[in-house]
Formats: sequence, C-alpha cells, structure tokens
Amino acid sequence: MLDKYDRDINYLRVSITDRCNLRCTYCRPKEGFSLKGHDDILRYEEILRVVSQAVKMGFIKVRLTGGEPLVRRGFVEFAAAMKKIQGLQDISLTTNGILLDKYAQGIFNAGISRINISLDSLDEQKYFQVTGGGNIHDVFRGIAAAEKAGFDPIKINTVVLKGFNDDEVLKFVELAMNKPFQIRFIEIMPISEVNISQPQSFLAADQMLNIIGKHFELEPINGKKHKSDGPAKIFKVKGGRGEIGFINSVSNHFCATCNRMRLTADGKLRVCLLKEEELDLKEALRRHCSDDELVGLIRRAILLKPAKHDIDCTDRHLKKCLRDMSDIGG
Ligand code: GTP
Ligand code: 5AD
Ligand code: SF4
Repeated sequence: MLDKYDRDINYLRVSITDRCNLRCTYCRPKEGFSLKGHDDILRYEEILRVVSQAVKMGFIKVRLTGGEPLVRRGFVEFAAAMKKIQGLQDISLTTNGILLDKYAQGIFNAGISRINISLDSLDEQKYFQVTGGGNIHDVFRGIAAAEKAGFDPIKINTVVLKGFNDDEVLKFVELAMNKPFQIRFIEIMPISEVNISQPQSFLAADQMLNIIGKHFELEPINGKKHKSDGPAKIFKVKGGRGEIGFINSVSNHFCATCNRMRLTADGKLRVCLLKEEELDLKEALRRHCSDDELVGLIRRAILLKPAKHDIDCTDRHLKKCLRDMSDIGG
C-alpha cells in the first residue's frame, strides 16, 4: 500500500522480544529475566495474525529482530509457521550470532535464508567490552554455522564508533575480501541515551569510505543487484569475494525511499524508527478485534508515516526517542 508520499510500504520489521543475551553499550536491552512480563509481549500466534493481515495489504517482506530473537523459546517453530503464510515472499533475521551455532541449520530449514549478524569488533577484548561481556568466538562459530547451512546473503552489521573501532575498518574490509559476506558499516544513531552531537563521537559514512578508498578499489553496485537491499549503499571490493556497504542514516538519510514499518515486541505498530508515533495493535488483538479492524489500524499507521526522521543533521541530535533500540529492533 502507498503512503502519503507515494512510497510502497511492503516491509515489516518484527521485534519478537526486547530481551537480549548481550548488553551493547549503545543499546539498552532488558535483562534476560526481564521487566516486561510474558503478557506484555505479543504471543507468536498474535504476531502471525498481524503478519497475515499485513500480507493481504501488500507487505511482502518480514525481518525478525529483537532484542535478540534467538533467546525467545520456540523461535524455529515460529519461523516455520511464518514461512507458511501465503504471499509472504521473504523472511530474514537480524541476530547477534551468539546462539547461531546451535540454531543456524534449523532456522535455514525453516525457510529463512537471509541473515544479518551484528559484529562491532574483530578483537576479542574489544568485543567483550562493547557487548558487555560477549564471547567473540561464539559469534565466529555462529557465522561459520550460517555459512555451512547455506544462508545467502550473510551480512555483517558493524556500528562504527569513533575512537573505539574506527581503526578496525580496514580489517573488516579484509574480511569481505576473503569471505563472501557483505560487511555493512553503520553510522551510530542518537537513539535513547546515545549522544552523537560531539564531533569526537561520530564518524560519517563518507569518512569511512575515504579511509577505505585509500587502500582498496571499490566499485558501486547499487541498483545492479541485491534488489532486496534496503538502506545500504553497496560496493564490490576489487579482487575480493564479498562486498561492503554503508548505512548512513544520519549524514544522508534514505527516508525518501523508506518502505518499512515496525512491530514492537509489546505490540505497537511504529511508523518510523526515529519518530514516536505508534498504534496499539496488542490492545485490539487482546479484545479479539476483527480482521477488518486490524487492517484498518495497519492502514492508519501507513498513512501516519512521516516524510523523514527527526534527527537534526547539523547537530546530529534527535529531538526525542523514548524507546530503547532493543524495544524497536533497529
Ligand atoms: P536488509 O536491507 O533487508 O538486509 O536489512 P537492514 O539493513 O534494513 O536491516 P538490519 O536489521 O541489519 O539493520 C541494519 C541497520 O540499519 C541498523 O542499524 C538499523 O537500525 C538500520 N535501519 C534499518 N532500517 C532502517 C530505517 O528504516 N531507518 C533507519 N534510519 N535505519 C534503519
Ligand atoms: N545506531 C545504529 N545502529 C544501531 N544498532 C543498535 N543500536 C544502534 C544505533 N544507536 C544496530 C545493531 C544491530 C542492528 C539491528 O542495529 O548493532 O546490528
Ligand atoms: Fe542486543 Fe542487539 Fe542491543 Fe546488541 S544491539 S545489545 S545485540 S539488542
């Protein structure tokens, strides 16, 4: 369905839990034993109902996110049930990779073939630091399991934090030389408590590209393939097996081509990652609303989508974002 700005809204990002087994410094995931009770979170059947109705309205892609989706019990069976929804063309997953070694094959067999894995450092100590205690070897095992299972593409998400991991950018490009992965360098967004208004805390994608361009020959490939690719600007690295991409949400936002809506773990339809407007689907679901009412709510949300986000590109300040990233799922 088209929104007020003629954008075809066909991609739903679904956060299935706000809980996480990591504590990344720029995110505020809830503890494993959590603040939200089971009743506050949409049940799998409720998510499947929302997605089924959304598909009738023209949604064709779903991305499952968190928190960390793989910490929620029954994930593989849930993914398999979603795969059965007629008309849904593409289901993908964003994960931190910690539990992937155990689940990769099952998830792939359930019908998810595209996976994005978060990895902000290639250094064991730094990874431990940025994730609040994560073991990088779990993620390496997870990535290897994803490769073995047959996921294609495998994308690695690297949020670039100036003064922390910007010195590793070239090492990540080396990884894209040697492996058939797409490494995406992500500008940090000022969500929740994250403050990027100081020049020493933010690195723009153009600056990353400058550093990389001095050492590698890059060929832009946007528009040629990877139709499914969303916000990333993608390049082939000459002589390498993989690709690199940049997600420049702050320095040069891509809102004009936005095709997304978000379903939060607690059942709110969020119209833009960086705006507060949300419609409460959980309330409607719990009083057994009709399918027509559900469709009406989704339609209203689409028509509420703003033209662009609210980050002021000069001082990189977001007017307000009441939610933590772990609630919304990125
Ligand atoms: P595909 O393009 O389908 O592979 O996925 P993706 O890159 O959109 O998803 P992923 O979950 O891997 O997110 C990567 C980064 O992009 C995260 O930092 C997200 O917060 C960010 N992102 C995803 N969608 C949007 C969006 O609509 N707006 C903004 N500003 N950032 C987004
Ligand atoms: N800015 C940019 N990306 C973020 N992510 C989490 N918080 C932020 C932020 N403030 C990323 C994670 C994960 C993806 C879903 O979102 O690192 O890869
Ligand atoms: Fe967990 Fe993702 Fe937040 Fe990291 S960014 S703490 S992996 S939810």
